[in-house]
This record gives sequence, structure tokens and C-alpha cells, in this order.
Amino acid sequence: MLSQASRPYIAASVPVLREHGVAITTVFYRNMFNEHPELKNLFNMGNQAQGTQQQSLAAAVFAYAANIDNPSVLRPVISRIVHKHVSLGIKPEQYSIVGAHLLGAIKEVLGDAATPELIDAWAEAYWLLADVLIAEEKALYEKANVAAGELREMQVIRVSQESELVKSFTLIPADGNPLLDFEPGQYISVAVDFPDGRRQLRQYSLSEAPGLPYYRISVKREPGGEERPLGQVSNWLHENIRVKDKLLVSAPFGDFNPDIVSDTPLVLLSAGVGITPMISVLNHLSQTQPQRQVIFAHATHSASRHSHVADIEAAKAAMPNLQTITFYEDQPLTDAANRNVRGGRMQIEQLPAWNREQTKVYLCGPVAFMRKQWQELLAAGVPEHLLHREVFGPDLLDKVA
Ligand SMILES: Cc1cc2nc3c(=O)[nH]c(=O)nc-3n(C[C@H](O)[C@H](O)[C@H](O)COP(=O)(O)OP(=O)(O)OC[C@H]3O[C@@H](n4cnc5c(N)ncnc54)[C@H](O)[C@@H]3O)c2cc1C
Ligand code: HEM
Repeated sequence: MLSQASRPYIAASVPVLREHGVAITTVFYRNMFNEHPELKNLFNMGNQAQGTQQQSLAAAVFAYAANIDNPSVLRPVISRIVHKHVSLGIKPEQYSIVGAHLLGAIKEVLGDAATPELIDAWAEAYWLLADVLIAEEKALYEKANVAAGELREMQVIRVSQESELVKSFTLIPADGNPLLDFEPGQYISVAVDFPDGRRQLRQYSLSEAPGLPYYRISVKREPGGEERPLGQVSNWLHENIRVKDKLLVSAPFGDFNPDIVSDTPLVLLSAGVGITPMISVLNHLSQTQPQRQVIFAHATHSASRHSHVADIEAAKAAMPNLQTITFYEDQPLTDAANRNVRGGRMQIEQLPAWNREQTKVYLCGPVAFMRKQWQELLAAGVPEHLLHREVFGPDLLDKVA
């Protein structure tokens, strides 16, 4: 509980933090990386360059301040952060470094307005939140039976081109010991050590069913553009990783856990490479619950960008109650010969009907896709508590910030 003495300072600083939040976190990262350059290996420097991570941390700080008396609002946010943190191997002692630099940045940006009382109040609030994260992260490391930061060497046994931009990599433990189990929807972090000494970690959803003697990840090569450099890790994996090569990966973590247990219908909506966790669900259900009613809708640019077609066809053969529909954005007209392929973007009203009030809906894809579908699903009468999403980047916390 935040002390009575600190409460007014926190309450008063919410609008100030909102105004200066991005400046504070920008200064925070700059100073922290100057003093601890080794932490650049831990943070996603692609997100840093785009500013998304700065926004995310700022949003988490606001959300915490704004909801200090209403911790249940933060539950999903905290869950997402701790899973991400453990997949990256965050250690308790690193909270002191982050805390010192965050408070230092508040002081630097707010100047005279950052009175000792205000800084003390924020130190108290920071450590309340940090202690929650540290405790939950400890529990997750213990459950997975791994030390913080422990990575495992995996050998690549198969590389396959799923579609124009996506390659799948199939991995087995290099030491021959059994794999850690996972739930469909979870991801691993993959560490890449570049020739110049930099390390970068990225998360990749496991795209096969659990219970197999291997993991599979499916990686979209992030193409560059006029103002966008090539994605570092995805391109490196595509260009360098061959069968027999080794990769360092984390244990599986992640709190996007589609319901694979009950026998109620399920709606899985994905776009682009957001299909990967959905394929894990589908492949799992085709073995464990082939009678389950599932709507599997996917949006992508074109047939040449459509990944995991073989998985979907195999699931269709095994699951009589599976309904699939695909939207090709670059193909304006609906395929007359195949009613399951539509032109244009995914439209909720074009999906097969389902019981809006009772069916869980899972979404994964680019942020713009998820915002649009989320709104359309709410407008179509789906209650928010039945909606679940996975974001392939820092979640911008738009619902709580
Ligand atoms: C939980 C989770 C699961 C995921 N699962 C998958 C998966 O199954 N498959 C998959 O392919 N991906 C997945 N991702 C995304 C993946 O982790 C990486 O983010 C993705 O591969 C891009 O990484 P990268 O290193 O190639 O690109 P980065 O180098 O990180 O760049 C990312 C983007 O930022 C742009 N960028 C970089 N620097 C700048 C700059 N200075 N200015 C403007 N733009 C810039 C790049 O052009 C690129 O488009 C997942 C992410 C999360 C969080
Ligand atoms: C109270 C303290 C902290 C808060 C509130 C916090 C908050 C967050 C948030 C909101 C995210 C984004 C999660 C997502 O949606 O993907 C994140 C990611 C991350 N955090 Fe923390 N964090 C804290 C402490 C730490 C510490 C101590 C470290 C270790 C140095 C750390 C390292 C990271 C890294 C490396 C990422 C991923 C960054 C990326 O992908 O760009 N965090 N954190």
C-alpha cells in the first residue's frame, strides 16, 4: 500500500507525468545506456529507435500512478510485463539500476518542480511496483525451473519457407535433454550475437503444437523501407541460419493462452505473421479435440504471403467443425471458385456466425488490425471480457494508460 504521505504527490504528478512522460523515459534510457552499455544487449534497440519502448514504459508508469487504488486494472498489464521480463532474463538486482535512472530522469526533466517529497513518493511507488514484478518473475522462473537469464542451446533440424516472407525453423535441444513444455500461444526469446559484439533478443511464438520433441518458430523477414532499416534479427535469421546451426533460446513464457481445455466454440482471428500462435492452437486441437467448433479467420496480403497453408489444410481434414476464411488484401475480388477466400481486409460481418455473448475471441496481428477488429467486435456485440489479444511488440497499454 502506498503511504498516506506519498498519495497527494503521486496524485498531483499524474498530469505532469502524462505531459513529460516520453521526455522522462527518453532521458532515462539515454542515461542508463550511457552508464550501463551492457543493457543495450537486453533491450530491443529496434523498439528504442522507433520510440515504442519509451512510450510503453511511460504508459506503464502513468497507468500505475493513475490506478494506484485500483490494482485489478493493472493485472493484465503486470502479467504481460512479467512474462516478457522473464523471457528476457531480467534479474532482481537490475531493478535498482532502472529505479535509480528513472527517478534521476524525473528529477532532470522536472527540474525545480521535482521536490524531494515528490521524488520520495515516486521512489516508494516505483518499489511497490518493482517488488510485485520481482516476486512474480521469481515465481515464473521457479515454475519453469530456470535461472534468470538462462538460455538453452538448440540445434536447427529443419528450415522451411512458409511463404514469401516467412521461414519456419525447427529446433531440438542441443544437449539431447527433454524440452520444456509450453501452452499454445506462448513464445520463446531468441538471442542473436552479431559479429560486432552486440546481442539482441526477440520473441517468437511457438508455431507447432506442444508435446512434440521439437519447437518450431516461424519468422517473418521484416523488410526495410524508405525510412525503415531492415529488421535486424529476423533478416539475420533468414540469411544466416541453416540446418545444423545452433541458436540460444529462453524457456517458453507468455500469457496469451487461448482456451484449449473447455469444449466451447473458439474464434481465432489473425493477420500476417500473427497467425503463428493460432497455428499452435489449431495443431494442438486437431490432436486433442478434433470435434471442437473453431472459426479460423486470417488476413494477409496475397496467396504468396499466406503462411502455414499446409497446417490449415491438415487441420481441416482432421476437424469436421473447423470453419476457415481467408482475406487477401491485395486481391480486390472474392474468389468465385473458393468461397473461403475473400478479397480485401477482414470484415467481422463476413465471418461465419457465432454466439457473440458466449464465445471467446482471440486476436493476433499488427496493432492497426487489432484496433480495427477490437472495435468491430465490440460493435458487433462481443463483450470485452471475451476478447483476448497478443501484440507482437511493446503493448501500448491503450486501455489503461
Ligand atoms: C510476444 C511476441 C511474439 C512474437 N511472435 C512472432 C512470430 O511468431 N513471428 C515473427 O516473425 N515475429 C514475432 N514477433 C516479433 C519479433 O519479436 C520481432 O519484433 C520481429 O521479428 C522484428 O524484429 P527484427 O529484429 O527483425 O526487427 P527490428 O530491428 O527490431 O525492427 C523492427 C521494426 O522497426 C523498424 N525500425 C528499426 N529501426 C528504425 C528506425 N530507426 N526508424 C524507423 N523504423 C525502424 C524496422 O524497419 C522494423 O520494421 C513477436 C513479438 C512478440 C513480442
Ligand atoms: C517497475 C519497473 C519496471 C516496469 C514498470 C517495466 C515496464 C515494462 C513494460 C511496460 C514493458 C513492455 C512490455 C510489453 O508490452 O512488451 C517492459 C519491457 C521490458 N523491460 Fe521492463 N519494466 C520495469 C523494470 C525493468 C528492469 C529492471 C529491466 C532490466 C534492465 C527491464 C527490462 C525490460 C526489457 C529489456 C523489456 C523489453 C524491451 C523491448 O522489447 O524493447 N524492465 N518493461
